[in-house]
Amino acid sequence: MSKIVHGFSKLNKEQKIAWLVANYFDNDNETKQVLSQYWNDNEVIQDLHDDFIENTISNFYLPLGIAPNFVINNKEYAIPMVIEESSVVAAASLVAKFWSTRGGFKAEVISTEKIGQVHFIFEGDKKKLRQYFNSKKEDLLKVTDDITKNMRKRGGGILNIELRDKTSELENYYQLHVTFETVDSMGANFINSCLETIANEFENEEINVVMSILSNYVPNCLVRAEVSCKVEELYAENSELFAQKFVQAVQIANAEPHRAVTHNKGIMNGIDAVVIATGNDFRAVEAGAHAYAAKSGSYKSLTNATIEDGIFKFWIEIPLAVGTVGGLTKLHPLSKLSIQLLNNPSAKELMKIIAVAGLAQNFAALRALTTTGIQKGHMKMHLTNIIKQLGASEEDKQFLIDYFEHKTITHNAVVEAYNNLRN
Ligand code: MEV
Repeated sequence: MSKIVHGFSKLNKEQKIAWLVANYFDNDNETKQVLSQYWNDNEVIQDLHDDFIENTISNFYLPLGIAPNFVINNKEYAIPMVIEESSVVAAASLVAKFWSTRGGFKAEVISTEKIGQVHFIFEGDKKKLRQYFNSKKEDLLKVTDDITKNMRKRGGGILNIELRDKTSELENYYQLHVTFETVDSMGANFINSCLETIANEFENEEINVVMSILSNYVPNCLVRAEVSCKVEELYAENSELFAQKFVQAVQIANAEPHRAVTHNKGIMNGIDAVVIATGNDFRAVEAGAHAYAAKSGSYKSLTNATIEDGIFKFWIEIPLAVGTVGGLTKLHPLSKLSIQLLNNPSAKELMKIIAVAGLAQNFAALRALTTTGIQKGHMKMHLTNIIKQLGASEEDKQFLIDYFEHKTITHNAVVEAYNNLRN
């Protein structure tokens, strides 16, 4: 029987689940139980989650953890992180403590400009198009007055509208390249509303608008975070060698895209976790960050490291379009709480905190990779997941944790140790 369904979104939650269970789970009763055990007892909270997206059938939990002891620009933070990967919060916490005794992290926002574009096709005379744009520019700004009023009161709005000739890339293709300041909001809805209004005003018989949309590539919404200390303060054993290998690891990521992607993935472990905890759009941040990593034409590391005059310096530069108002930020009770935990930062402050989380994660990864290897710490954190999968009792779990204290942890080794214990 066909599984194509009509009017699915109009069904209530129970009906949707009944359809799902009948069509995809062989009418297995357990499916409904698995889904319903994640419903929130508080109806108001469940309603809120139901309405975030269409066709909600349950809530998908991820852990919200805290990485304390971050010192950023001499201020102390406990950073909220939402992530499923076992070692990420532990690594962030360790690195935060490490740098808290070496001057902490320094961070600065370099720029906060957002971008949106009206993409259009024009087959006529270029000169006439330029004249038309010049004559229209004031009106294009004026038609958005109502939309930009509140944003202007907060110090934001449209910064500029430019006509860009893209015909060398695609025949008859032009764009209005619009720049924005969106202050404490990420600004996606604001930007898209402005763009659609501008497009309507600009379009005529000869100008065919294809689409109007913000760009998630925001190289001028940039933040930099840094740590530095004397080489000898870096590491208890052989600081010199450690610093050298660390810098080489960054250089390798800068030279080799396969390594750079994994290197940057580690950075995004920290970035995404805070972006999600604060109710921001991690896909937008991801897309923008990777595009920035490839801005030279080849994909490179988002971090850099140097040793100069006995000083080790390690820094990140990354575009981050995030907000502390609007979107889900204050709507989801846990992102609201996360933002409170960070002392209700401005978007600029949040950019700094997120960049620091990314830098800390990369420091943790490179420190492990260039010394003990990544698996030791990673598998130690993952051990409890393996034990849980085996269905071990509390007593057996404690035994296995003690047993593996000084042994190499692999999935097979844990299974074997558990089986030995059971027999
Ligand atoms: C794992 O999630 C992240 C790392 O692979 C990052 C890296 O290799 O730098 C450990």
